[in-house]
Amino acid sequence: MNILMVASECVPFVKAGGLADVVGTLPRYLKNLGYDVRVILPKYQSIDGKKYDLQTLPYRLQVRVGKDTEFFRVKYYVSEDDITYYFIENMRFFNRPGIYGMDGLDYPDNRERYIFFCRAVLESLKALMFRPDIIHCHDWQTALIPSYLKTVFRDDGFFWNTSTVFTIHNIAYQGQFPADTIDMAGFSWADFTPDKLEFYNNFNFMKCAICLSDAVSTVSPTYAKEIKEFNGKGMEIVLNSRPDDIYGILNGLDYDYWNPLTDREIAANYFQDDISGKKLCKMELQKLCGFDIDENAYLLGCVSRLDNQKGFDIILDAMYLLDDKNVQFVVLGSGDATIKRYLVEAKNKYPKSVAVFFDYNESLAHKIYAGSDAYMMPSKFEPCGLSQMIALTYGTIPIVNRTGGLSDTIKYYVPESNEGNGFVFNITYGDNFVQTILKSEVVFRNKKQWKALMNNAFNSKFTWEDSVLHYQTMYLNLIEKKEYEIVYR
Ligand code: ADP
Ligand code: GLC
Repeated sequence: MNILMVASECVPFVKAGGLADVVGTLPRYLKNLGYDVRVILPKYQSIDGKKYDLQTLPYRLQVRVGKDTEFFRVKYYVSEDDITYYFIENMRFFNRPGIYGMDGLDYPDNRERYIFFCRAVLESLKALMFRPDIIHCHDWQTALIPSYLKTVFRDDGFFWNTSTVFTIHNIAYQGQFPADTIDMAGFSWADFTPDKLEFYNNFNFMKCAICLSDAVSTVSPTYAKEIKEFNGKGMEIVLNSRPDDIYGILNGLDYDYWNPLTDREIAANYFQDDISGKKLCKMELQKLCGFDIDENAYLLGCVSRLDNQKGFDIILDAMYLLDDKNVQFVVLGSGDATIKRYLVEAKNKYPKSVAVFFDYNESLAHKIYAGSDAYMMPSKFEPCGLSQMIALTYGTIPIVNRTGGLSDTIKYYVPESNEGNGFVFNITYGDNFVQTILKSEVVFRNKKQWKALMNNAFNSKFTWEDSVLHYQTMYLNLIEKKEYEIVYR
């Protein structure tokens, strides 16, 4: 089976959030099943061509975006695992400092940028003579590919064997633009209908993919259910028009990379049977934050995009309400300027118990996962969430809202039965984050119980070995369906 992953982020090349982790890891597991898996990404400025020794293919290709002809080249890199990564290089759209924007603001031409990318991907496949059985698209930036295959390229024999999968990593980002996107993207107005490209008289990238890809998946079973029922941000009806084609497959975590025993970024390595190194990590983190070095302080960490999704209003409340307790807060994040401002205010008020860092900092992220006692994730909604999984593997206890993937991965710790790997509250039922932190603090102060809880955290594993089999089944179903379609074409 030939599989092409199309995405706007992928570790180690470029990352804004968990999408990059997923696109960076899933291909390796598909490769292990024996498939030819390739990945295609934009060549952003931040991707260092020298570091990866990117090679350039000998042709210059072109696509239309509105009235303009855009030229591009395809670069590539073959990893040690023998996965080929292609990079679409175009100076106008991708040679800039940010991925989606700068200083918390989207680039105004993101519509053009990702129309270009989707068209360029299909053109590149022809030049490469690579015919995928499956094109697996991730999030709205890649969402036009299934639509092109069902409309503009419908009669193009090159793609007759190709099925498309569209994975929703976050339904809050849909890529909605005015109807004239039809012209800019080169579609026909005849397809501007509710079952295809029209969405309340607008053009919505994600809606197109939900209607026109061969299967749709999202990144946890609970989120798959939620977006059909009440949390689909306007997509509920569209999703319910094809309920049997919506799959909920939990993300896995890359446990080779996120591993406190081998992590080079942290003060001392440790593992489940000897957690003494974690104490040193906590001391190092307290020092970095300018806090008192105090083993008994309850240190709560958070590494996140600064976005309303992640519940920073709730975290801020906790910073103010728990100032008289021996609790310390550290947040690392980049994104929304207003959230930044509020966090700075809290830090200025409580410099001894609140620390905030505002950049994208992989090394500090590791230090926070390892050095914190507990991890705050009061997300309003969370398609899957990888941060809570990372926290668990560092023996750091997640405190989460019951939503999406957090419901699927974190269970309330009950000392009597020694079940559970974290603390869960439910915003919808009016539960309170601060009260939950206080309940967790009681367990923290009971050394025996906290040790037992940490053991449960270390034992919670969400591996790609399991999840990849669900993707495989989905792909094989699509291929079988396609063979049937071709016979009757
Ligand atoms: P989302 O994809 O919604 O941002 P996830 O929990 O799935 O949330 O994944 C977030 C990933 O991005 C984690 O690997 C987290 O450590 C990382 N991350 C988020 N913000 C930062 C940051 N400022 N610096 C370093 N890593 C970050
Ligand atoms: C999105 C979601 C997050 C998920 C990640 C990877 O960014 O917000 O919950 O873990 O994608 O699928």
